[in-house]
Amino acid sequence: MSKKILITRIIPAIAGDLLKQAGFDVTVWPSDKPMTKEELIEHTLQADALLSLGSNKLDRSFFETCKHLDIVSQFAVGYDNIDVAAATNFKIPVCNTPDVLSEATADVAFGLMINVSRKMFYHHKQILKDEWKQFEPLKNLGFELSGKTLGIFGLGRIGSIMAQRCKGAYGMDVIYHNRKRNPELETKTGARYVDFDTLLRESDVLSVHCALTPETRGLFDKQAFSKMKKTAVFINTARGGVHNETDLIEALQNKTIWGAGLDVTNPEPMRADNPLLEMPNVAVLPHIGSATIEARTGMARLAAENIISFYKTGKPVTIVNPEVLGS
Ligand code: DGY
Repeated sequence: MSKKILITRIIPAIAGDLLKQAGFDVTVWPSDKPMTKEELIEHTLQADALLSLGSNKLDRSFFETCKHLDIVSQFAVGYDNIDVAAATNFKIPVCNTPDVLSEATADVAFGLMINVSRKMFYHHKQILKDEWKQFEPLKNLGFELSGKTLGIFGLGRIGSIMAQRCKGAYGMDVIYHNRKRNPELETKTGARYVDFDTLLRESDVLSVHCALTPETRGLFDKQAFSKMKKTAVFINTARGGVHNETDLIEALQNKTIWGAGLDVTNPEPMRADNPLLEMPNVAVLPHIGSATIEARTGMARLAAENIISFYKTGKPVTIVNPEVLGS
């Protein structure tokens, strides 16, 4: 009997097509809303493998109930919605979709940086309010990025593309901080390793590209913002949980830092009355980092290939917990 794959949301058709071509019995949850916890468990109990999204909370209790699963293949690079230790406990491989969305996400970080430095969303809103009256020699001036220092927190796939974009476009000096130095990416991007406090102190633009982990949760808080330049811009396209949003709002209101560009917020979704949305030096997007045809197609393809490769060869293409293989 063919293996049953549950895809928990409608995603690019290529995922289902590839799985069906490989002989699997595929069910796609048809709603345009994420499954509730109860729906997820009820339908996962009928499946052998899950193609999940970040909106599915796969915690320990989920894995205790669904320990029969052969594999979880996530349609995202981030997997902070999954209790990987619990999955590993039950010897369930967890896969993600790195690389295919790196260009798209770096573009959003780069776009937010330019947007904030020139207050673009603010100026656009002024036109919508019919407040474009005349040339204003002194009002709402931005700043130029040429020769400024870019600080990358998390020089991985997306962070290094952002570094290269900024160096190429503006000759920015790039510094970075990671848990561990990455000599290969230092050579590729020309980025210089610094400690966390130096990153905070020297960055004109500080762009976050790390995973959300217990170590990074809430790391950008009042104390961190207080160490940054008054002229600095904070960009986050990684996970909203990495910054403390109350502290960020306060840092912007008190002019501790100059501006912020967010593609991820804390919490998500952001409500329309959030004070950040009224600030001229802030640009917020609704978590669209991977929202290109190319990236989403690549994510769907890779999520399906992980399942196909696992069943064919015992090895998925991109696995988060390789220690479960062969055990
Ligand atoms: C990811 O892949 O982790 C993104 O945040 C989802 O688009």
